[in-house]
Amino acid sequence: MTVIANKCPNYKVTVVDISQARIDAWNSDKLPIFEPGLKERVLTARGKNLFFSTDIDRAIDDAEIIFVSVNTPTKMFGEGEGKAVDLQFIEQTARRIKENSKSNKIVVEKSTLPVRAAEALATILHSGKNSVEFEILSNPEFMAEGTGIRDMETPDRILIGSKDTPSGIAARDVLIDIYLHWVPKERLITTNLWSSELSKLVANAFLAQRISSINTIASLCEVTEADVTEVSRAIGMDSRIGSKFLNAGPGFGGSCFRKDILNLVYLCEYYQLNEVAAFWEQVVSVNDYQMERYVRRILQAMFNTLVGKKLTVFGFAFKPDTGDTRDAPAIFICKRLLEEKADLKITDPYALDNARKDLHDSEEGVEFIEDPYQAVEGAHGIALITEWSLYKDLDYQKIFDKMEKPAFIFDGRNHLDHQALYEIGFNVYPVGKPALSHL
Ligand code: UGA
Repeated sequence: MTVIANKCPNYKVTVVDISQARIDAWNSDKLPIFEPGLKERVLTARGKNLFFSTDIDRAIDDAEIIFVSVNTPTKMFGEGEGKAVDLQFIEQTARRIKENSKSNKIVVEKSTLPVRAAEALATILHSGKNSVEFEILSNPEFMAEGTGIRDMETPDRILIGSKDTPSGIAARDVLIDIYLHWVPKERLITTNLWSSELSKLVANAFLAQRISSINTIASLCEVTEADVTEVSRAIGMDSRIGSKFLNAGPGFGGSCFRKDILNLVYLCEYYQLNEVAAFWEQVVSVNDYQMERYVRRILQAMFNTLVGKKLTVFGFAFKPDTGDTRDAPAIFICKRLLEEKADLKITDPYALDNARKDLHDSEEGVEFIEDPYQAVEGAHGIALITEWSLYKDLDYQKIFDKMEKPAFIFDGRNHLDHQALYEIGFNVYPVGKPALSHL
């Protein structure tokens, strides 16, 4: 919405939320999320054509276009538990829009939804006595955290799904007009509503599938002395395969991949496409396996016991340049290491507050330390889980000197210079490559 406000000075954008604290933060100097480039853009538009408010009913009534961006988490109860999308927030929002609309509106699905959600939305909006017309569009979001501004300002594509009726096409054109302020026409794709809804799930499923695919190959590399980085490079240069999203790691995290794949699995099961469901579910199973494998590699390298050993965790966020830890592999990995009775010192430049919340159940044996040098004091091993660039520039000789010997480093992202670490004296365990060990 900030980018829309920046690029379309002739539009008034009002962002509303039920949380007063969140809206207060958006109106303050300390925005509630960290995203490179966001703050300066908010400051340019805020109070001019970008407003943050909790007056939801009034904003609904004022608006011609409403972007519904409420969260759609995985349902944790009843039918579809653990897989289906919990649609309660979407439904509550639809009812609120219906109650407060006195003029026709275009309602845009921005949240990630199951296929055919627009149908349910339309039914709710048009139910009962109401002369107001609602046209529903699907306009899924493809931006990634950390690069959100760039993804929004120079998108690969903007996807808009609509009904193929005169009113559907007219609504679609209204949305197209907004994007044409900065997006080249050929990057705007239009489809029917269901293709658009499904494309969002499929885009995330394909991206996650690539990560699980390369992670399975990483496990094979570790036992055959092949090198997963070399394999990724060799296959990625085939233009049909492409080079992106082929970095092996401790498993994918983030608020979307697991949730969206499980949503896809649930849809397939609902339509009794059981083989299709099993295929996609395997992407998630392989991810779980990869996280567990990382823990086992640590355990095996450190003589099959972690009891009382001090491990320093480098990075807790699900990826660098964000403080977000939702579904971060670090959560699973740290809990497993604690189960093995290791003592953990966790360091991360932005995510320590979230890490504290994520591990509040298992606080015994965990310390959160901002300074990486302090965090490695007396450690037996380092587990690098998030590839923050600052970890590349640390003085590893100094770190080695502070650690217990033999000193281990488990580079879950192949982020560091392994040969240099080995020469300092570390026993180095990369992902998808043979270990460099002095033992
Ligand atoms: C993802 C998609 O990339 C966006 O296109 C989408 O809009 C977004 O979900 C969403 O649905 O909201 P995001 O979750 O921000 O974006 O992060 P990604 O950059 O996709 O990374 C996800 C996870 O995969 C991270 O844990 C990352 O470390 C991991 N990853 C990524 C790998 O392990 N290897 C890779 O090669 C790439």
